[in-house]
Amino acid sequence: MTDTSIHGEWSSKFGFIIAATGSAVGLGNIWKFPYMAGEYGGGAFVIFYLLCVALLGLPIMMAEVLLGKRGKLSPINSMRKITQNAQVSSRWSIIGWLGVLTGFLILSYYSVIAGWALAYIPRLALGTFSSINELPPDQVLQFVKTIFSNLISDPERLLAWHSLFMGATVIVIAYGVEAGLEKSLRFMMPALFALLFILLGYSMVNGDFMAGFHFMFDIDFHRFFYPHCTPTACEFNGEAPLAAMGQAFFTLSLGMGAIMVYGAYLPKHAKIGEITAIVVIADTLAALLAGLIIFPIVFSNGLDPNQGVGLVFHTLPIAFGKMLGGSIFGALFFLLLVLAAWSSAISIIEPIVAWLIESKKMSRLSAALLCGGIAWMVGFVTILSFNLWQEVKLLPMIPLLADKTPFDLIDFFTSNVMLPVGGLLIALFVGWVLPARIVSEELEMTENQLKYRFFRFLLRFIAPLGIGLVLLNLVGIL
Ligand code: TRP
Repeated sequence: MTDTSIHGEWSSKFGFIIAATGSAVGLGNIWKFPYMAGEYGGGAFVIFYLLCVALLGLPIMMAEVLLGKRGKLSPINSMRKITQNAQVSSRWSIIGWLGVLTGFLILSYYSVIAGWALAYIPRLALGTFSSINELPPDQVLQFVKTIFSNLISDPERLLAWHSLFMGATVIVIAYGVEAGLEKSLRFMMPALFALLFILLGYSMVNGDFMAGFHFMFDIDFHRFFYPHCTPTACEFNGEAPLAAMGQAFFTLSLGMGAIMVYGAYLPKHAKIGEITAIVVIADTLAALLAGLIIFPIVFSNGLDPNQGVGLVFHTLPIAFGKMLGGSIFGALFFLLLVLAAWSSAISIIEPIVAWLIESKKMSRLSAALLCGGIAWMVGFVTILSFNLWQEVKLLPMIPLLADKTPFDLIDFFTSNVMLPVGGLLIALFVGWVLPARIVSEELEMTENQLKYRFFRFLLRFIAPLGIGLVLLNLVGIL
């Protein structure tokens, strides 16, 4: 196999860690995780999510990285090359193709939501939220909610922010991932974590920290699996486990080749187990911090954790409005959130861009423009879902999906179905099809090492069974 990637390479394993953490940490941690935990009642959701991260996420991330490192090409071509060399069916390249479709869909809405965060930078910088100090307490929530709904109900404004974000993503992609990204992320990621810790301090002092903590970690599996119990009937419902598993894939950027393509840019010698563990821990830390920041504020202000997509945009501005220097901290926070989203967005289209360069002989610039353009257009669906198409329900005949807007459906199918199916295929391929010799060679482990056996056990049995069971549930729910 060729030794280096034609798309460039990270300067060291540290470059990979930074880039993969940049991919993993994003809106999934700070926007999506808290609102989903809120929606599904906290504790049990969080624990199930953590289990999925550890038992499915970590081994599948290792599998993705090793495929990329082995193939050194875009996911589609890496899979092709690896299957050819190992003389197994080339049908497994479907993993790459599925990733292309998933990537366009995810990026299309990811950019719209990142646009919301962009829109909040000037709102905070200009001190919009400091006026809540003059409001009677019962009007504070109304105030922040109005500002949020004014934004999302205006398609033109959403379009402007979405376009700005997508443009910025295309620019970095056009320059090449390792050139621009690695350098800027070295400062940005630590800054984001520093700010998260500062906010945690704020929540500990001024929020109802214990209430938030209990909400996140008190486990009630009964309510998790049987959310709609009446005194006479209890029916099992697999929706919450499905959402928790989907979130584990989403937050770790797994199941569509994003981490695979970053693995392709790894230098030859790199201990995959160690570097992926660091990425998984950093990502989990970011999500837990976000929860521990947001829920104490929710409870000390008498808010409802089940507020859906607006949760972060309602709670944090309240905290920033009351905080000394909140305009500065707030603007900085949303700026860092946008940057975190940016480094994630880049990883969502890099697999497709790399494939266009390899197979369609496009220049990096035209490939970036083409992919960004398509995702930008698909993004209209998300934009309209919050206003003009708010009442458009495409699947009214399926109870679980009946009140989902087009955006909800895209989100549901990508996170909860397409990514887990991609992850399942990756686990099956690396666990059962790829010769063990290749696997151990790429992991730089020997076949009788305990950690190698554990990895293989998770990948062959636990991951496929776990994903299979949760997905089968879905069939039951539908
Ligand atoms: N993990 C990122 C987040 O949590 C989003 C993301 C980046 C992603 N690349 C991905 C999600 C690939 C799924 C697949 O915000």
